[in-house]
Amino acid sequence: MKEALLKLEKLNVAYGESLILRDVDLEVAAGEAVCLLGRNGVGKTTLLKSIMGILKPKSGKVLFGKDDFTQSRPEVRAQSGIGYVPQGREIFPQLSVRDNLILGLAARAQAFDAVPEEVYELFPALKDLLHRKGGDLSGGQQQQLAIARILLTRPKLLLLDEPTEGIQPSIIDEIEDAIHKIKATGVAILLVEQYLQFAWRLADNYYVMEKGTIISKGSTESIGEEAVQQHLTV
Ligand SMILES: Nc1ncnc2c1ncn2[C@@H]1O[C@H](COP(=O)(O)OP(=O)(O)O)[C@@H](O)[C@H]1O
Ligand SMILES: [Mg+2]
Repeated sequence: MKEALLKLEKLNVAYGESLILRDVDLEVAAGEAVCLLGRNGVGKTTLLKSIMGILKPKSGKVLFGKDDFTQSRPEVRAQSGIGYVPQGREIFPQLSVRDNLILGLAARAQAFDAVPEEVYELFPALKDLLHRKGGDLSGGQQQQLAIARILLTRPKLLLLDEPTEGIQPSIIDEIEDAIHKIKATGVAILLVEQYLQFAWRLADNYYVMEKGTIISKGSTESIGEEAVQQHLTV
């Protein structure tokens, strides 16, 4: 077993009085891809927000490398190497693609005055869109922009919340290709995804969540994706 980069220990998270995550244990090793699966409403987004520090747990621990992040602010986590691409993306709609890419993300150590070439290597489509407003892009193009922006903060761990949701198939292929390239550079990935085949082609390990609890986990090699399908269909 490789040493964990991210380790969640008995995490319990609530919205007000309603407990959403219950005793969640989860690990992601450096450079590894893990997918988190589960039906709508089970707590997947809540888990990613808890890893990012947007939500604070009632109990349990969020460990990252040698640090205990349980009480750390989101900016600290971002600066330490956790990059979060939220569900629904959240780029700046009024800014151009170029400005979305080069303007300060708080977590970024280095300022840019031009868009780094690596962005186009991963997402060639963005090159022709530089002067378009973020809000005028298609959903798939916004997803590419959101991932590209976060990568410029040099994360060690990338949290992706349903990157294929509502996106047309041809662009899903481009996004998949880019995510595989990102993994090949050694970035660890925690992927929340409903599109099982997509998740299986990327992930080394999987977790299945039901009602805020992990009910199944293992290596994606040891089991076909159809075996977890039963936990996902309604
Ligand atoms: N801001 C919030 N306040 C109260 N309850 C919430 C909030 N966000 C999500 N929930 C509830 O928490 C549960 C888990 O939601 P979520 O983490 O978004 O699920 P998933 O991402 O797996 O679809 C759901 O029952 C949802 O209604
Ligand atoms: Mg969600």
